[in-house]
Amino acid sequence: MQPSLADNKPNILADIKRDHAQFFSLYRQYQESNGDEEKQTLVWQLIHDLTVHSLAEEEVLYPEFTKHMGSRCRDHALSEHKTLKDILSDIDAMTVTSPGFNDKLKILMMALEHHIKEEEDQMLVEFAGLVQREDLAHLAEKFQKSKLHVPTRPHPWAPDKPMTGNIITNTLTAPLDKLRDAVRHGMGPAHSNAPAGHNQS
Ligand SMILES: [Fe+2]
Ligand SMILES: [Fe+2]
Repeated sequence: MQPSLADNKPNILADIKRDHAQFFSLYRQYQESNGDEEKQTLVWQLIHDLTVHSLAEEEVLYPEFTKHMGSRCRDHALSEHKTLKDILSDIDAMTVTSPGFNDKLKILMMALEHHIKEEEDQMLVEFAGLVQREDLAHLAEKFQKSKLHVPTRPHPWAPDKPMTGNIITNTLTAPLDKLRDAVRHGMGPAHSNAPAGHNQS
């Protein structure tokens, strides 16, 4: 039977769609904001959330794509992630007052919209028809755990091929990212998983 999103059990499909909706919500808030400080905070949160989401997908979901659907789907998704990381890295090096910032952010959101549409309308639909409901719950737990240890800033030089390379990269860069987040968001390292804040770094 096709897995359903209707029950309240953990479900990686629901988690992923919730994250996607949050990215567009942050962008809407950015467009509606009139303050540079608030805009910058929203952009930093988007950088953090999109980086973490993408890397957790690469660690937990995309290997499952390979297992159930072959490597072509995964390779296509990874190549789109590489594009997103490249743009995100440029945005991470800018501020909201940098020349061309709005255009760069618009390019990111267009690429993200394209990727999310493919992910939700094609990849996740096919995947949902191939896995058991209990597997979706188990994967949801792994997805949330992965989010706690992956890097929080884009690293476009990181290998875009699965999976060992990513894990090594994550081990090397995640602690440094969390320290940089702590400075950016004006909080101690103990709180560095939380993205929102005000300080520049
Ligand atoms: Fe996604
Ligand atoms: Fe993705």
